[in-house]
Amino acid sequence: MGYCSFLAAFVIVLTISVWTNYVNGKLVQNGCDIFQGSWVLDNSYPLYESSQCPFIERQFDCRKNGRPDKEYSKYRWQPSGCKLPRFNGVEFLKKLKGKRLIFVGDSLSLNQWQSLTCMLHVALPQAKYISRTVNGLSNFTFPDYDASILFYRNAFLVDIVSEARGRVLKLDSISTSKIWGGMDVLIFDSWHWWLHTGRKQPWDWIVDGNNTVKDMDRLTAYEKALNTWAKWIDSNVDPTKTQVFFQGVSPDHASGQGSNAKNCEGQTQPLKRPGSPLPAEQVLEKILRGMGKPVYLLNVTTLSQLRIDGHPSVYGHGGHRDMDCSHWCLSGVPDTWNEFLSALLN
Ligand SMILES: *[C@@H]1O[C@H](CO)[C@@H](O)[C@H](O)[C@H]1NC(C)=O
Ligand SMILES: *[C@@H]1O[C@H](CO)[C@@H](O)[C@H](O)[C@H]1NC(C)=O
Ligand SMILES: *[C@@H]1O[C@H](CO)[C@@H](O)[C@H](O)[C@H]1NC(C)=O
Repeated sequence: MGYCSFLAAFVIVLTISVWTNYVNGKLVQNGCDIFQGSWVLDNSYPLYESSQCPFIERQFDCRKNGRPDKEYSKYRWQPSGCKLPRFNGVEFLKKLKGKRLIFVGDSLSLNQWQSLTCMLHVALPQAKYISRTVNGLSNFTFPDYDASILFYRNAFLVDIVSEARGRVLKLDSISTSKIWGGMDVLIFDSWHWWLHTGRKQPWDWIVDGNNTVKDMDRLTAYEKALNTWAKWIDSNVDPTKTQVFFQGVSPDHASGQGSNAKNCEGQTQPLKRPGSPLPAEQVLEKILRGMGKPVYLLNVTTLSQLRIDGHPSVYGHGGHRDMDCSHWCLSGVPDTWNEFLSALLN
């Protein structure tokens, strides 16, 4: 099968799975790709003010860190062929009753987890919640709904282990599955840490099958790790019990990355054009296309590429020390990612 027909087949499968969700009752127009559309200003947004979310992390609270403009939190995603339902926290928790949902990934996962917990808390301010972090596992639970929204920080998905020779990144081993394996909704992400070198690189060696190397092409390493992840999902997940999502690669707007990517400082308006496709996203889509079990891609890459205005820039860590053009202000862009999640959740 040629690449194009392969891609077409995948898009059809994806459309059908989205369509199935529509038939199950929530959305109106069949076959609409909710990720194709545009950002429109809507004064009924944001869904919450960061000041209403008592547990929001400082790094995402741009307002508190002094960001003066507000429009960036008032954009709603408008699909071209249908409507993305406005987030309904009560409905979301009803679907999640008796279940555990977990985000597994890096700080972009944390960003989306934090967004979702704020959205739910503000939608149900009276509902009791318990929030705890133990051994890297953050657990936000609504006991009256018996529903947990968890986050497990794991930037590479595959393992890093300490050995006598140093820290070893094992491309074919995924032992953290014992933490998230039995849960009901899994939402993964990985990419940004694959780029780190020098002091920020958390491993000294890469083990790839029987070979140990000092380094390799990072996109290749990423693909091998995703293959390990995909094999685990394909052999272990029962789709009647577990729904699997992958957060598409979240775009940076730091200088020098991608043709249309400018430094995000001082940006208050979305871009008109998304810029070129990200190679990591293309690798991710290729892996998902080859899988046997259904995985829902939260296809947020292109639409988030437009949102150069959505990053903390100098309003991340509360000072002008760091320029953050990778994470997203809350409220903001990840709230829309969660509206997609909510629309697709069984
Ligand atoms: C999350 O916290 C709730 C409430 O404390 C607890 O009942 C549940 O077992 C925890 N879940 C996990 C996976 O740790
Ligand atoms: C790795 O080594 C084992 C044992 O020597 C061998 O059986 C296996 O085929 C090797 N795997 C690869 C991918 O070369
Ligand atoms: C994700 O969105 C992009 C841009 O809209 C599109 O080109 C790509 O085909 C989509 N991927 C999938 C798997 O639907």
